[in-house]
Amino acid sequence: MLLLWKLLWSLLMLAQAAMGNWWNLAVPLSDQSGNTSLEAVTTLRKESCHRLEFLVERQKKLCMLSDKMIQVLQTGAMQAVEECQHQFRNSRWNCSIVENSTDIFGGVLKYKSRESAFVHALSSAALAHAVARACSRGELNDCSCDSKVRKRTPRHWQWGGCSEDIRYGEIYSRDFLDSREDRTTDEGLVNLHNNDAGRRAVRSRMQRVCKCHGMSGSCSVRVCWRRLPQLHVVGDALSTRYEGASHVKVSVVERKKGKNLRKIRPIHADMKKPNKTDLVYLEDSPDYCEPNEELGILGTRGRTCNRTSAGIDGCRLLCCGRGYQTRVQDYEVKCKCRFVWCCRVQCEICRFKRDHHVCN
Ligand SMILES: *[C@@H]1O[C@H](CO)[C@@H](O)[C@H](O)[C@H]1NC(C)=O
Ligand SMILES: *[C@@H]1O[C@H](CO)[C@@H](O)[C@H](O)[C@H]1NC(C)=O
Ligand SMILES: *[C@@H]1O[C@H](CO)[C@@H](O)[C@H](O)[C@H]1NC(C)=O
Ligand SMILES: *[C@@H]1O[C@H](CO)[C@@H](O)[C@H](O)[C@H]1NC(C)=O
Ligand SMILES: *[C@@H]1O[C@H](CO)[C@@H](O)[C@H](O)[C@H]1NC(C)=O
Repeated sequence: MLLLWKLLWSLLMLAQAAMGNWWNLAVPLSDQSGNTSLEAVTTLRKESCHRLEFLVERQKKLCMLSDKMIQVLQTGAMQAVEECQHQFRNSRWNCSIVENSTDIFGGVLKYKSRESAFVHALSSAALAHAVARACSRGELNDCSCDSKVRKRTPRHWQWGGCSEDIRYGEIYSRDFLDSREDRTTDEGLVNLHNNDAGRRAVRSRMQRVCKCHGMSGSCSVRVCWRRLPQLHVVGDALSTRYEGASHVKVSVVERKKGKNLRKIRPIHADMKKPNKTDLVYLEDSPDYCEPNEELGILGTRGRTCNRTSAGIDGCRLLCCGRGYQTRVQDYEVKCKCRFVWCCRVQCEICRFKRDHHVCN
């Protein structure tokens, strides 16, 4: 009986498995021939949801919830990719997009690496963020401003205005992203952990902003509401987590009523146990130094490096020991600006030279 159930379950999961991931929405959609469709150039419409083959059934349903949901999903995906490229601009893998691939990151994320952990957390955060923002703008059917923000009135100020509903954003992000993970696999369990860590990074950085009311300048009434953090702030926080990510394994810790309890544990017993805000990964990263077409890795030849940095953006690490070339680069800036009566600022153009280091 149990065996049959398991068989049915794995068949179901197999049918669910979609190629690629929702963050593919960040780039224009291509049809089978690699032809960029007209649809991507204009705006996406609700009717397109069921044709996105990288979504699982549940995700297609959630995509159809509101007319504008597909655009919100696209905004979330684009912001996630942009933030990833910003955070990784100095790293060997710079979150580059691969054309003609079922996943926009190519095969890089097939490795259950710390980069994969970061992308999962960041995209989960970006989705919660984009949905909550759209709620407060009145763009979605099922949410608006957060009306449940604490009703207990503090002494010197009161709640008012539009508090952004991160709770709804989180619920949507969880429903949407966690629906494609299989918690009976190690990879699924780790992805679920990182998705959750991403959402926590947004929630814990919600801000309270206030505005004064009352007779001019008196500020007798202060009205406050909750605002989402900038996604940059969340990206910085997740980057720090990425640096300190925990290498883990999944172990069966105990059996309760014949049921296995599977838990994430550090790979070595003497390492710190990851908490719910930490990122976790199962595998070492692939080699990002040399190009690998199969994985969509560009390698670091031609990358600009920093000669004086000892960090990952330094020529020694970024160029993977292959060395670098120095080119003298001309650049121009506005200078010797002065005010001309009236009312103009006049500048000269100054030319400078600077060294530019490029990996071999
Ligand atoms: C993508 O596929 C199209 C059509 O198959 C081809 O013309 C194009 O060169 C490909 N682009 C890349 C980067 O491989
Ligand atoms: C791309 O699709 C459009 C319309 O769907 C078609 O007119 C055009 O010829 C296609 N281009 C290529 C290179 O297949
Ligand atoms: C989780 O661990 C990190 C260090 O890895 C620490 O900075 C953070 O405060 C911890 N968070 C909680 C809620 O314990
Ligand atoms: C990533 O690095 C490649 C070279 O390896 C470069 O061509 C590309 O412009 C970089 N992308 C970004 C987003 O920085
Ligand atoms: C290069 O690295 C040094 C030392 O880390 C830093 O002070 C400098 O601002 C960096 N230069 C650039 C162009 O990023």
